[in-house]
Amino acid sequence: MDQRLQQRVQRYGWDRAASFYEQSWSRQLAPAQDLLLAMAALQPGERVLDIACGTGLVTFRAAEQIGDSGAVVGTDISDAMTEACRAAALERGLGQARFERMEAEHLALPDASFDVVLCALGMMYVTDFAGSIREMMRVTKPGGRAVSAVWGKRDRCGWAEIFPIVERRVQSDVCPLFFQLGTGDMQKLLFANAGFAEVESERITTVLEYENGEEACLAAFAGGPVAMAYSRFDEATRTGAYAEYLQSIAAFQRGDGYAIPGEFVVTRGVRPIA
Ligand SMILES: C[S@@+](CC[C@H](N)C(=O)[O-])C[C@H]1O[C@@H](n2cnc3c(N)ncnc32)[C@H](O)[C@@H]1O
Repeated sequence: MDQRLQQRVQRYGWDRAASFYEQSWSRQLAPAQDLLLAMAALQPGERVLDIACGTGLVTFRAAEQIGDSGAVVGTDISDAMTEACRAAALERGLGQARFERMEAEHLALPDASFDVVLCALGMMYVTDFAGSIREMMRVTKPGGRAVSAVWGKRDRCGWAEIFPIVERRVQSDVCPLFFQLGTGDMQKLLFANAGFAEVESERITTVLEYENGEEACLAAFAGGPVAMAYSRFDEATRTGAYAEYLQSIAAFQRGDGYAIPGEFVVTRGVRPIA
């Protein structure tokens, strides 16, 4: 798929997913976000960038950790996501947080302008992994740190069949390289190649819990990266795709609910001082 098309699919797909996102994913992504924030070790007064901020699940936690004397900028490719963040920041009175629609591949931000650069579960969607990690490096101050969390290996993510199930129905790739960064030391290598020092990675396993099949399907189809393709399905296509997805996660059924295995990789690097 060409890069501009992939960006458009992401941009308008996540616009559609924005209103389902937190109910579908906030509990399930929390272990990766907790680890990312622990590895970032934010300090009061720091300037933080949160790339692919979504609805701000990490951005608002970062804003609280850096306090009134710090500043956090959340960026995301989706207008609906950044607008939701602006409204939530106003409601919570978090004046130290501001939000801009921006692609991770080309950050319209000055060099060396942040103490810490974060990207939680966003890097799998960009069209250029190496270039986007170099952008993280460019905007990090010398001595500052960058942390990115991604999904792990495909065969450790029990929900992974969602991609071929949707692809078969749209006859095109949906997030073709989604699991590449979580494989082996890929993300760690890209951090090192971008010039980060002291690069370290942690891999954690988790369980994604859903109360019933409908909740699991809503998360997979409407609340995530295939939302754009899914929005074009007619009723019969939706029914068939739901049935196939539920079949693919049948081994993880627990009573009415589902406990689906997942894996995350979180990588941290420091921008060298000289
Ligand atoms: C799974 S959500 C993660 C949101 C948030 N960081 C969190 O931890 O909840 C992925 C986000 O990546 C954004 N995204 C996808 N492609 C992007 C790109 N090329 N540049 C910036 N953001 C992108 C989507 O709009 C979406 O909000």
